[in-house]
Amino acid sequence: MRIEPREKQSLLAESALWDGLDVAAVRAEFPILSRWVRGHPLAYLDNAATTQKPASVIHAMERYYALSNANVHRGVHQLADEATRAFEDAREAVRRFLHASKPGEIVFVRGATEAINLVAHGLARQRWLREGDEILLSAMEHHANTVPWQRLRDDTGAALRVIPLLEDGSLDVDAYERMVNRKTRLVAVTHVSNVLGTINPIRRLVPPARAVGAQLLVDGAQAVQHLEVDVQELGCDYYVFSGHKMYGPMGVGALFGRAERLAELPPFQLGGDMIRSVTFERTTFADPPNRFEAGTPNVAGAVGLSAAIEFLLGVGLAPIRVHERSLTEHAWAQLTSIRGLRALGHAPERAGVISFVLDGVHAHDLATILDEAGVAVRAGHHCCQPLMASLGVPATVRASFAVYNTVEEIDRLAEAVESARRVFQ
Ligand SMILES: Cc1ncc(COP(=O)(O)O)c(C=O)c1O
Repeated sequence: MRIEPREKQSLLAESALWDGLDVAAVRAEFPILSRWVRGHPLAYLDNAATTQKPASVIHAMERYYALSNANVHRGVHQLADEATRAFEDAREAVRRFLHASKPGEIVFVRGATEAINLVAHGLARQRWLREGDEILLSAMEHHANTVPWQRLRDDTGAALRVIPLLEDGSLDVDAYERMVNRKTRLVAVTHVSNVLGTINPIRRLVPPARAVGAQLLVDGAQAVQHLEVDVQELGCDYYVFSGHKMYGPMGVGALFGRAERLAELPPFQLGGDMIRSVTFERTTFADPPNRFEAGTPNVAGAVGLSAAIEFLLGVGLAPIRVHERSLTEHAWAQLTSIRGLRALGHAPERAGVISFVLDGVHAHDLATILDEAGVAVRAGHHCCQPLMASLGVPATVRASFAVYNTVEEIDRLAEAVESARRVFQ
């Protein structure tokens, strides 16, 4: 169905009334959202994979390259000074965003994956774990928060134990409390599941871990774009996220590490910009965060990330949460009324992600049909093969929502799924 611009405007106005957010104004900031794909206006519902970027982010990066590009930390000239200031201002923006206590607790990385690898590598070198120690992960972890810990297990002789989920897709916190013991050295849990949308009660996980001296890493890749995160209030040791899932650029993200943790952690990569002094005999390392930022960093990425934070805070995380919650409730009602459709995970606290399977239709076929209708969703195991195995499905279709999505887009998703059902069943 082709939606005429005037009709589209009124649908947007309707969805703006839905929860008080001016969705039309937000959408106008995203150039890509005016695209048509396959003869339809784009309905982009693949936000858990990556979000689209507002003009402010695109322009901040363009401005940086057009006017201030230079290498950081090493020059005395004007541009080097501007670039260094832009990079360090971005660090301060991330610090404020996560409510960390010092800029030195923020390390720029390529994204959540690199941040987790950085910590896993450091803990291995630090010999934080020994044979017989235990690493606890939840059953809903992304491969990025699974595979690095498997290697740490293999390198140290530690054991990896999995915190189970309840039937509704929430974390079994009682089981977690029973599992933590004096051999537990590390707990790594996602804040929000990229498959089920479950928001995990991180604050409840901290006291048991603290009591036995274990460290706690939180994977915030699916959280920072939906919830206000205060790392001091959460009480975790490490918190990681990727810029590209929160309206920022690809190739940049951040690791928060409590100052006392980073002070003990050996560096990940070695080279320029992370040292205090080098002779052929010996190298001494710089203090955090520079110790973890070897080589030329992604300065334009950090500038873009800072602009994305400004965008998120400008719209407001509270209105975003309300908007996304109403979209998710609407989507849940529409989708679950389709015959043969099963949505997975209905934890009470959820972010804007719905994974589902449709009887008799493979997830990839369904996603292809939705694409024909201009609706972009993701199908597959979503880098969560252990979770898929425990759910007993090889793949799901996943619709994930962002601040710019509308009720009309969700209705188009549901209509396209319903048409596929009629054809296949
Ligand atoms: C929960 C979760 N953790 C980690 C990642 C990895 O993020 P990146 O690929 O940006 O490093 C993702 C990406 O989908 C994710 O959803």
